[in-house]
Amino acid sequence: MRVAAISRMFILFLCFPFLKFISLGSAQNVCDNGHGNYTANSTYSTNLNTLLSSLSSDTQIDYGFYNFSYGENSNIVNAIGLCRGDLEPEECRSCLNDSRVDITQACPNQKKAILWSEKCMLRYSNDTIFHKMETSPGYYMWNANNVTELDQFSAVLDDLMKNVTGRAASGDSRRKYATAENSTAINFQTIYGLVQCTPDLSQQECNQCLEGAISEIPTCCNGKQGGRVLRPSCNIRFETYSFYETATTL
Ligand SMILES: *[C@@H]1O[C@H](CO)[C@@H](O)[C@H](O)[C@H]1NC(C)=O
Ligand SMILES: *[C@@H]1O[C@H](CO)[C@@H](O)[C@H](O)[C@H]1NC(C)=O
Ligand SMILES: *[C@@H]1O[C@H](CO)[C@@H](O)[C@H](O)[C@H]1NC(C)=O
Ligand SMILES: *[C@@H]1O[C@H](CO)[C@@H](O)[C@H](O)[C@H]1NC(C)=O
Ligand SMILES: *[C@@H]1O[C@H](CO)[C@@H](O)[C@H](O)[C@H]1NC(C)=O
Ligand SMILES: *[C@@H]1O[C@H](CO)[C@@H](O)[C@H](O)[C@H]1NC(C)=O
Ligand SMILES: *[C@@H]1O[C@H](CO)[C@@H](O)[C@H](O)[C@H]1NC(C)=O
Ligand SMILES: *[C@@H]1O[C@H](CO)[C@@H](O)[C@H](O)[C@H]1NC(C)=O
Repeated sequence: MRVAAISRMFILFLCFPFLKFISLGSAQNVCDNGHGNYTANSTYSTNLNTLLSSLSSDTQIDYGFYNFSYGENSNIVNAIGLCRGDLEPEECRSCLNDSRVDITQACPNQKKAILWSEKCMLRYSNDTIFHKMETSPGYYMWNANNVTELDQFSAVLDDLMKNVTGRAASGDSRRKYATAENSTAINFQTIYGLVQCTPDLSQQECNQCLEGAISEIPTCCNGKQGGRVLRPSCNIRFETYSFYETATTL
């Protein structure tokens, strides 16, 4: 397994100059070397390019989840694109288009790869990946700032994460996404939480994936004001600042 940091840096922190953070940085690629390589100019290679191009340029889908396949027999490529639930279709396409370029540069000739960036995830494989909960590989990111009153913070966060998990898991086959905030945290700080599953999971699988990710918060982000746990089938994030759009239509 290779993890390559690439240079498409997030600019999020520029909007919050009054907060000193963030160690959560660039997009992360995970390329699965163990799964084998394809050869340049092979059918698989052509199929992959065709698939990722059609995925990132599709204008029919407006709910941020793309489950596309292309090819035949041993040259089938399956891909999932998942945008953060608050993105407009155009912003989603643009994120997936960037990821398409980044993933093939960072994981050249890999039969299977996954890329997480701030606003979307792109993964592909020659194996079936739809309607299947995958919890590994996983990835953590955290906000460098420390929490002052950990017990209180953790209690509110715990509550918040349970709430969003229930709501996201009961979403439909197009969107399993929920956010929430609770301002009863310490020192007038608000905690913002977001969770999301690929919507091809069942309610039960989504619950299970999110519960697993949430159970990793103490390992990944103990005492931190923010953190993310990224998995192929679900992801979670919390911060003490607002990092998602709260459109009334969601
Ligand atoms: C795939 O390619 C990578 C990088 O070129 C190489 O390190 C790896 O050993 C190859 N894997 C297989 C199974 O051939
Ligand atoms: C792949 O095809 C391109 C364009 O036809 C060619 O320039 C390149 O040399 C080929 N690469 C390999 C490894 O065959
Ligand atoms: C997709 O990315 C390619 C290569 O970076 C770029 O030329 C193209 O304009 C992008 N398309 C969209 C719709 O953003
Ligand atoms: C996918 O590729 C791997 C490695 O080359 C291979 O072992 C596996 O059987 C392939 N899966 C399918 C469905 O062809
Ligand atoms: C957070 O706490 C750790 C451990 O006590 C310390 O090393 C680190 O410098 C603190 N970070 C900030 C941003 O204050
Ligand atoms: C915020 O968290 C507190 C403590 O966990 C809880 O009592 C309260 O109901 C929560 N508020 C909302 C709006 O969820
Ligand atoms: C989440 O919290 C909201 C507001 O406090 C509440 O109305 C809703 O019932 C909760 N949902 C779940 C699944 O806990
Ligand atoms: C792709 O996703 C859509 C929306 O969730 C679903 O209706 C469709 O059955 C899925 N296709 C496959 C091949 O899983």
